[in-house]
Formats: sequence, structure tokens, C-alpha cells
Amino acid sequence: MKAVVIKEFGSPDGLGVVELGEPVAGGGQVLVDVEAAGVAGGDVLIRRGALAAYGFRTGFVPGGEVAGTVAAVGAGVDPGWVGRRVWAFTGTGGGYAEKAVVVLRDVVALPDSVAAVDAVTLGSAGVVGHFGLAQARFAAGESVLVRGAAGSLGIATVQLAARGGASVVAVTTSSAERGRRLRELGATHVLDRAGVGDGPEAYDVIIDVVAGDGLMLDRLAVNGRLVIVGAVDGPPPADLGARLMAAFRKSLTVATFSADTVPAGALQAVRESSLLTLKSVVHQVLPLAEAAEAHRQMDAGQVFGRIVLTV
Ligand SMILES: NC(=O)c1ccc[n+]([C@@H]2O[C@H](COP(=O)([O-])OP(=O)(O)OC[C@H]3O[C@@H](n4cnc5c(N)ncnc54)[C@H](OP(=O)(O)O)[C@@H]3O)[C@@H](O)[C@H]2O)c1
Repeated sequence: MKAVVIKEFGSPDGLGVVELGEPVAGGGQVLVDVEAAGVAGGDVLIRRGALAAYGFRTGFVPGGEVAGTVAAVGAGVDPGWVGRRVWAFTGTGGGYAEKAVVVLRDVVALPDSVAAVDAVTLGSAGVVGHFGLAQARFAAGESVLVRGAAGSLGIATVQLAARGGASVVAVTTSSAERGRRLRELGATHVLDRAGVGDGPEAYDVIIDVVAGDGLMLDRLAVNGRLVIVGAVDGPPPADLGARLMAAFRKSLTVATFSADTVPAGALQAVRESSLLTLKSVVHQVLPLAEAAEAHRQMDAGQVFGRIVLTV
């Protein structure tokens, strides 16, 4: 089968299409004929080599979520799955390929009404949006700021905060046009990356996809909660602890959230509802062989929503 591998960490040119042996579904697994694979910010961090400490090696196939059709099942899996359209979480990688093996607990039957290209923008993003807001103990009537809202995680979070009854859904984004599109998805206020815009000064909840030195701790209201769900701009500032203590009298909370911590049963229900109820924003559909071009666009900051690779 054809797959895209990281031949060299660094620039998108290090991605290449190779011929690999077809994977085989083991016990509790299914083999998916991939129709679409999402290109996520996390894939970009891995390809750049920013996550080298986690043990990624050359030859790694990126891609954390796919949609397609079950081609075969491993031991212990109902053969009735064969031929069913599915969305599947492949983990940290394995999705940029003609075929992917996934464990059954990470497979969701895909309703006919949901196209494969849309499914791979929604399944994981909805999980992070939903449980990121839960980690922040978000409640209806509170104000929310989504920092780095123009990617698939942020877009899902904006929709979920609006639907959850937030009094304010502010976003940071890099252009007025992106702000306009985010307003169509539920944002009520738009700030630039520095936090300047028409939104309030302080927020009950900040969901931060970006981290890095621009973390907006000083924009939290009293008893405010900031949850870091991504690290597009690297780790948070080294003086985070000191800043938290300097704001001691505001009783602030800073937390991280990883979907790895959500129990399997709870994950499936949220994946299913995300696929059915969230609006998908597909920036562009490219063939699998153009994965490097997809990553070039991600590096250039041109993507609103998600690029999808099709097989
Ligand atoms: N928590 C979890 O379980 C989980 C699961 C999956 C992925 N992740 C993480 O989520 C992140 C990717 O999410 P994504 O795909 O939605 O993100 P993305 O598309 O890579 O980036 C989101 C937005 O951040 C803004 N941005 C980029 N650089 C910035 C900077 N220096 N300062 C301020 N804003 C900046 C950009 O929008 P503008 O140009 O409009 O500002 C960009 O569209 C990765 O860190 C990944 O590891 C976490």
C-alpha cells in the first residue's frame, strides 16, 4: 500500500510517499480502507521534530484520524463490521496511508449523512472541545475565550461554547476575514493574536490551543480557569508559576487537557455526537501524495479549519 512517511524531520519536503506492506488487523482491531485522512496541527509538530522527546523516528506515518470502509477484522471482532463506513482514531499516527489498522474501541460507524472528508475534521476536534471545556468546568452564562480558534480544535470549541450557553465566545485570530468566519460559527467577539479587539478584558474560561509565551493568564477573571489543549507555539512560558502566584488573590487555575485521559465509553458518545452535530470546515481536499503541500500550507498559516487528504 502507499503511505506518506517522514523521511527527514524538519521541512515539509521531508515527507515522501513510499510503498509499505499492508497492515493486518490483530485481535480487537479492524483494517480500514482509508478514504480520507485529516491533516492536524499535531502532525505538523511531529513532522517538524518538535516532539522528538516522545520517541518519533524517521519512517513514521503521520495522521491521527481517518474515515473509510472496514476491509477486514481481527480476532474477537464481529465480522459484521466488514463493509461498514467508519470514522477512526488512529492514535498519534498511521492515517496518511491507503490502509490503517485501528482498535475497535476507537471506531465509530459513520452515518450515511456524513461525508468522509467532513468526518476527519470533527471526530477528534469535538472530543477536545467538549472535554477541554469540561476540564475548565465551563457552565452556561460564563464568558469563554478560545485562543488559536481558526484550526479544527478551536472551531469545534467555539461551536460547543456557543451551544453550551456561553455569555461571550471570544476568539483570537490573525485576520478580520478569519474573524468574520468564526463569527458565523458562533464567536461573539474577535481579538487579534495580541488580545486586542472588541471582546471583554477578562474571561471565566480560556481554552488555549497555542500555549507558548503568548499565554493570556492576565485575561482570566477572578476564579478563572485556563486549559491548555495544544501547543502550536511550544510550551508555556517558564515564569508561568511565578505569574500564577503573583495573581494569587484571583484564585486562578491553569490546567492541561489530553484526550488520552478520557474513559473509552465517554469518548465514543462524544465522537458520535461531534460527527452528527458540529459544522465541519474543510479548508482544502488534496490527494494523499500531496501531503507535503498540505504541510507547507499549515506552516504558512494559510489554513482555516482543516486540510483533508483523500486516497
Ligand atoms: N488536547 C488533546 O488531546 C489534543 C488532541 C489533538 C491535538 N492536540 C494539539 O492541538 C494542537 C493543534 O490544534 P489545531 O489543529 O486546531 O491547531 P492549528 O490549526 O495548528 O492552529 C490553530 C490556530 O492557531 C493560530 N496560531 C498559530 N500560531 C500562533 C501563534 N504563534 N500565536 C497565536 N496564534 C497562533 C492560527 O490561527 P490564526 O492565524 O488565525 O491566529 C492557527 O490557525 C496541537 O498542539 C496538537 O498537539 C491536542
